Amino acid sequence: MKHSITLLFALISFMGFAQNPLLIPPTLSGENIALTLQPGSFEFFPGTNTSTFGVNGNILGPTLILENGQDVNITVDNQIGETTTIHWHGMHVSAANDGGPHTTIEPGEIWNPQFTVLDKAATYWYHPHLHMKTNDHVLKGIAGLIIVRDAEEAALDLPRTYGVDDIPVVIQTKTFDANKQIVLGTNALDTEVLANATRDAFINVPSQIIRLRILNGSSQRIYNLGLTDNMPFYQIATDGGLLSAPVQLTRLMLSPGERAEILLDLNGMETQSVYLKSYASELPTGFYGAAQVGMNSMMSIPNYNSNPLNGSDFDILQLAVGEPTGGVTTIPSTLVDVTPWNESDVDATRNLLFAPKNFGPSNVVNGPFVINGASFDINVINETIPLNNIEIWELTNQSMIAHPFHIHDVQFYILSRNGVPVPANEQGRKDVVIVPPQFGTVRFITKFEDFADDEVPYMYHCHMLTHEDDGMMGQFTVVGNPTAVSETGEEIFSIYPNPTSNVVTLNGHMPATIELFNTSGQLLEKKEMTGGNGQFDLSGYASGVYYFNVISAESSKAYKVVKN
Ligand code: C2O
Ligand code: CU
Ligand code: CU
Repeated sequence: MKHSITLLFALISFMGFAQNPLLIPPTLSGENIALTLQPGSFEFFPGTNTSTFGVNGNILGPTLILENGQDVNITVDNQIGETTTIHWHGMHVSAANDGGPHTTIEPGEIWNPQFTVLDKAATYWYHPHLHMKTNDHVLKGIAGLIIVRDAEEAALDLPRTYGVDDIPVVIQTKTFDANKQIVLGTNALDTEVLANATRDAFINVPSQIIRLRILNGSSQRIYNLGLTDNMPFYQIATDGGLLSAPVQLTRLMLSPGERAEILLDLNGMETQSVYLKSYASELPTGFYGAAQVGMNSMMSIPNYNSNPLNGSDFDILQLAVGEPTGGVTTIPSTLVDVTPWNESDVDATRNLLFAPKNFGPSNVVNGPFVINGASFDINVINETIPLNNIEIWELTNQSMIAHPFHIHDVQFYILSRNGVPVPANEQGRKDVVIVPPQFGTVRFITKFEDFADDEVPYMYHCHMLTHEDDGMMGQFTVVGNPTAVSETGEEIFSIYPNPTSNVVTLNGHMPATIELFNTSGQLLEKKEMTGGNGQFDLSGYASGVYYFNVISAESSKAYKVVKN
């Protein structure tokens, strides 16, 4: 008897069956949500304790299940003994609630964001965002999913029983040292593949339609997802919303920060096993995880070639198919209306160039990388965007490695990559987009709505956390209240005449710094006013809308002026 059990175990491991049940994070919902960031310990390797950080537990965080339109009142209690922040990745919230690098939570402090959930049904996530510490805090274990539900999604016949036919899958890799402790910082020996912090994970699933909500929560690695034997699957959602119809795929490239919801048709597959894999052997050169990043051996990342994951196909999660539970049995034919903004309504176009800070064979793949020539400076606002602007952003990657670009505040629609429209499964709402190496380009369209704040900026950055921490990040403010003060009657500042054809006079509390912007957020002039009236001559500017940003000791406000 003992023999046959040993033999069975040997056989099972020989056949490569996964051994550890997939961890399913608990859920939290409702208006009041209490999160505690805490140190802990977790057995990634049975019998060995690894020091971690977690949210309300030892590793990762609870999945927040939120309804569109509801209010949330969240407390984030920082007990990790280090300053950090928590950012609601992909959600449309005000800059002060966004949890970027400016909104620090000191050790022992509680942060209390409160907001209304304005997002469409999709899978979002939360993670730390302290500048130069984001990677370490995520690697230590702080990350959780946010599932937003809405009426449109509820009307569809989709699997939504959490952990049964609607399964969260957070894919990450980590480097462990000889004592099985997590190695922080940049390290390309991220040889351990984890699904929800579980190595060699399996989950029992019913033989019907199942839904996977996949997050690439890795620091750097890109996955080329696929199933055993090229079994087809159906993508139903991108980062920030459902697609117009399920898109049948056999491969799905997912870069750090990106999410995808997919359906698998497991009808009639009882007793079989399907593996979610990364077919990294098919990743193109320059995409982290491919056999090669640079074009030659000079362009290499330290330790990259010693990592067996690079360029090979590997398993992420085993789906062991069991009895059906009477759930969904068909893939829906259509999903929701997807209506991108119109290019003819664009107010401004911005260009962002990604490049290594210094050009050299090692720098072009290792960085540090800069955006428009600059490293992140927490005291510099890189872009000022008028509220309600519809904009096209054009990204160009002048380096030899692909960068997943992420922007806060908004969801966008990808217009093109390398000059051509993207495939159907990328035509939904996105907040991360992969920009290919070697002068790869991406154009997207978005709108900056609802939230303006002259002081607290939002971030845009590469979501390879090593690149982000190395300074591949910029910040923008959305400037609002674009109404001349004369209309409000409040004597704070007056600007006249408005509309104008040449000279405008600004009158109000001095001293103040006055900046003149166009609708692209380009700074045209800047004057320090010490007393009396300020005057700007607009006769040399084209007709259209301009903004005066008035910064005084008490406040900073933007005023709209029309030049005839
Ligand atoms: Cu997921 Cu600015 O981050
Ligand atoms: Cu974000
Ligand atoms: Cu990058």
